[in-house]
Amino acid sequence: MRLDKFLSQTGAGSRNEVKQAIRKGLVSVNGSIIKDASARVAEEKDAVCFKGQLFSFTKYHYYMLYKPAGVVTATKDSRQKTVLDLLTDIPVKGLFPVGRLDKDTEGLLLLTDDGALAHNLLAPKKHVDKTYLAEISIPLSVEAADALRRGVDIGEKKLTAPAKVELIEEKRILITIQEGRYHQIKRMLKAVGNEVLYLKRLSMGGLVLDENLRKGEFRPLREAEIEVLKKEYAHDDKRESTEEKTAGI
Ligand code: URA
Repeated sequence: MRLDKFLSQTGAGSRNEVKQAIRKGLVSVNGSIIKDASARVAEEKDAVCFKGQLFSFTKYHYYMLYKPAGVVTATKDSRQKTVLDLLTDIPVKGLFPVGRLDKDTEGLLLLTDDGALAHNLLAPKKHVDKTYLAEISIPLSVEAADALRRGVDIGEKKLTAPAKVELIEEKRILITIQEGRYHQIKRMLKAVGNEVLYLKRLSMGGLVLDENLRKGEFRPLREAEIEVLKKEYAHDDKRESTEEKTAGI
C-alpha cells in the first residue's frame, strides 16, 4: 500500500495532510525518514511513525499532556479552551481524555482513542492509583490524615475508599486515591476541615508525568509506558482476589 494511503487510513490525517507531513520529513518507515508519499509499505510488517507515534491498522494512540490550569477536560466546548485544543499538529480525531481533571487542576492527563484501556484504568474495581500533590490551607493534623487514610464522608452513600497520605511540608501533601469521584480530593480535604488551594496530578498507575514537559505540552507515550498501563489492570481486581482467597472462595 502507498505510504500516504496507509497513514490516512490509520488515522494520521487526511490524504493531503499526510502528504504534506511526508514531504516535510515527519514520517519514518522502520527508522528511516521517507519523503516520498508513493513509497510502498507492507502494512503488517513495517513500523510507520508520524511525529514519534507508531501507526498501524490495529494500533491506538496515546498521549501524555501536562494539563495547565484554565482549560477544561473535554473534547469540545463552545466557549472555553479544552485539553484537545492543546494537542496541536496531531490528528485528534477519536482522542478523548481518560478521566477528568478540574479546570483549575494541573498535571498528568492521558488522552487516547483506546476505549478499553480507558475503561479499565477508570473502573473502580481495578484499583488504579492516582497520586496528587495538594497544597492546603491549614496544616494537616494527624487525626485528619488518619481519617483520609480510613475514608471520609463526602456526602455520598459510601465513604471514600482508603487513601494514602504523605506529608511533604506542613501544608503540602501527596495523596493517592483509586476512585475518581467528582472533585474528590477537594471534597475529601473539605470533609476534614481543610481546603485545597492547588492541585496537581503526578501519576496514574505506573504512568508518571514527564518532568521534561512544560505546562500545556504533550508527547506520545512510549511503548514501555503503554505496557505499564496495560499491566496495571491485567492483574484484575487485586484486592478482590485477595479477599476471595481469604474467604476461601
Ligand atoms: N480531585 C479533585 O478534587 N479535582 C481534580 O481535578 C482531581 C481530583
